[in-house]
Amino acid sequence: MAKFLFIFSLLLLSANAAFAEVESQYFDCFLHSSNFTNEAIYAPNTTAYKTIFRSSIQNLRFLSNDDTTKPSFLIQPTRASDVQAAVSCGRRHGLGLRVRSGGHDYEGLSYVSAGGPFVIVDLANLRSVEVDSASGTAWVGAGATVGEVYYNVGVNNRTAAFPAGICTTIGVGGHFSGGGIGSLMRKYGLSADNVVDALMVNADGELLNRTSMGEELFWALRGGGANNFGVVLSYKIRLVDVPPQVTTFSITRTLNEDATKLVEMWQTIAPQLVDDLWIRVMASAADVEATGNRTIRAIFQGMFLGQRQELLPVMEKSFPELGLKDNDLKEMSWVQSTISFAGYDIEDPSILLSRKPEYNSSFKGKSDFVREPIPEMGWEEIWKFMMEGKDEPLTMILEPWGGRVGEIAETEIAFPHRNGNLYNIQYFMRWFEKEEAVTERHLDWMRRLHELMTPYVSSNPRAAYLNYKDIDLGSSSEEGNAGCWESRDWGWNYYLNNYERLAKVKAKVDPENYFWNEQSIAPFSACKPLSYKE
Ligand SMILES: Cc1cc2nc3c(=O)[nH]c(=O)nc-3n(C[C@H](O)[C@H](O)[C@H](O)COP(=O)(O)OP(=O)(O)OC[C@H]3O[C@@H](n4cnc5c(N)ncnc54)[C@H](O)[C@@H]3O)c2cc1C
Ligand SMILES: *[C@@H]1O[C@H](CO)[C@@H](O)[C@H](O)[C@H]1NC(C)=O
Ligand SMILES: *[C@@H]1O[C@H](CO)[C@@H](O)[C@H](O)[C@H]1NC(C)=O
Ligand SMILES: *[C@@H]1O[C@H](CO)[C@@H](O)[C@H](O)[C@H]1NC(C)=O
Ligand SMILES: *[C@@H]1O[C@H](CO)[C@@H](O)[C@H](O)[C@H]1NC(C)=O
Ligand SMILES: *[C@@H]1O[C@H](CO)[C@@H](O)[C@H](O)[C@H]1NC(C)=O
Ligand SMILES: *[C@@H]1O[C@H](CO)[C@@H](O)[C@H](O)[C@H]1NC(C)=O
Repeated sequence: MAKFLFIFSLLLLSANAAFAEVESQYFDCFLHSSNFTNEAIYAPNTTAYKTIFRSSIQNLRFLSNDDTTKPSFLIQPTRASDVQAAVSCGRRHGLGLRVRSGGHDYEGLSYVSAGGPFVIVDLANLRSVEVDSASGTAWVGAGATVGEVYYNVGVNNRTAAFPAGICTTIGVGGHFSGGGIGSLMRKYGLSADNVVDALMVNADGELLNRTSMGEELFWALRGGGANNFGVVLSYKIRLVDVPPQVTTFSITRTLNEDATKLVEMWQTIAPQLVDDLWIRVMASAADVEATGNRTIRAIFQGMFLGQRQELLPVMEKSFPELGLKDNDLKEMSWVQSTISFAGYDIEDPSILLSRKPEYNSSFKGKSDFVREPIPEMGWEEIWKFMMEGKDEPLTMILEPWGGRVGEIAETEIAFPHRNGNLYNIQYFMRWFEKEEAVTERHLDWMRRLHELMTPYVSSNPRAAYLNYKDIDLGSSSEEGNAGCWESRDWGWNYYLNNYERLAKVKAKVDPENYFWNEQSIAPFSACKPLSYKE
């Protein structure tokens, strides 16, 4: 036994030594390619390592003390050649790579890896936003937040805007490449629909733009998850026109105020409204203060691209039951609406430049797409489940489809969720407790809800939104890497009929699967025939 232990520890020691050797070779390789003047690489023995690692992590669930899931190095590039070196050295010396822009990944996949040694390329320093008013476009660094984009596009020009998400600290890098849904999508589509060029580094360490990467790869970057194909440094976006004043509202209805009926009606009304009007619903269970009874609070949040007196007749015609009144409405500039939806004071646009991870808590998200309205009885079942979860801080966010986002063909870009969808649901739970048991209970509750929703949502495959990444849909271990692309269920959930084309792009640009992660796309290869099963 003692002898066995001795040999075992020798093996471990030599494995560690070999690994230290790999790390040291990587470090040298990186320094060489930056002529030994680079300050962009941080080893765990530097004081900056901890600060940078932590800097943009939103989901504290993945901030563990387990060093084996932490990166060998952090690289914070200031120029393209740093990224090229990070990739080339990684391939040469066998260190994996994760790209992080805003750090909002729902499953922490931009900064934690279960697939062996890796480095993080953190793009926080590549975040310039260069607006070209003459052409109505901008080059945006992948490390910028959408708040920084909104600020630079909209603060000095009330009629310029860009369609992207509600939370202002989301990073451009992940958000645009997964789609990007928000208050302008019914008028102008997703962020990804308005990307017109990109600069990226591929698995061979080459720096490419739209012309040199070709249309297939450029197609894949828009909705296919850029991390499957390389590291995007910046996107060129097309700005959109908005009126100098938009109108917003946020009104709450409880069960006693007909919330069930209103949500039921909203399902078919919201996707068919004029494109200038976006109304989403946020529903959660709450206690009625006076009685302690539980109820459902449905918040109808809206934005109209026009003035209040134009909105009232539109609502009177399309959705009078909501009972929207003049004093529910607020007029403001579009950029102020982004501040307002993010929950801040609209008089202070500088909040858009704050990169502080506002979440600083644990969370779990899941998503669905709804193609047939859920009947009132269905809502009653859902509400009952939500009200039972007294210690389950769950919110359901219903985002209306229709308009521009539904008009664009499913194959136009890699993002596939188009015509035929009424709305997207995000199930979201956020908590502050750190105990493992609490986390497990919350995760279990989310799975039960997902199960309960099965009859009401899309099926075969059950569609899910890549930006609300959900590891429960399946994951691959590195050893399972040789497996068949087709058998990876999440690929069908996220990409539907675009999945095969994405796997083919992957086979072409990263055949060795350097850009692997737990839910990445495997390179297309001949597989045994297999039809998708729910
Ligand atoms: C509080 C909150 C609110 C949100 N609100 C919305 C919303 O309103 N609408 C919406 O559509 N989504 C929303 N999201 C989801 C968000 O769009 C995704 O989490 C998105 O992927 C975040 O991008 P990121 O750059 O911040 O994240 P990261 O964690 O940095 O990256 C996410 C993924 O993209 C990859 N990636 C990042 N940068 C690059 C790059 N430059 N090149 C290649 N791959 C890259 C990462 O490797 C990772 O897999 C929200 C998320 C949170 C936490
Ligand atoms: C490194 O130095 C060489 C020779 O001076 C130069 O050609 C090259 O561009 C430099 N590389 C970087 C990344 O600065
Ligand atoms: C820190 O780590 C780097 C890379 O592994 C190594 O080259 C360097 O010598 C270390 N510095 C100290 C002070 O240990
Ligand atoms: C404002 O933005 C719009 C839309 O991009 C553009 O057409 C217009 O020229 C811009 N105005 C100024 C003054 O930059
Ligand atoms: C893309 O790169 C090519 C060279 O590879 C260059 O000729 C072209 O001008 C670039 N296109 C844009 C839009 O920058
Ligand atoms: C509160 O709940 C109790 C028991 O379900 C019910 O009898 C009562 O009417 C409710 N009160 C209100 C104000 O809804
Ligand atoms: C996050 O919360 C922790 C306490 O849970 C606190 O110590 C830390 O300073 C917070 N970080 C940020 C960025 O707010």
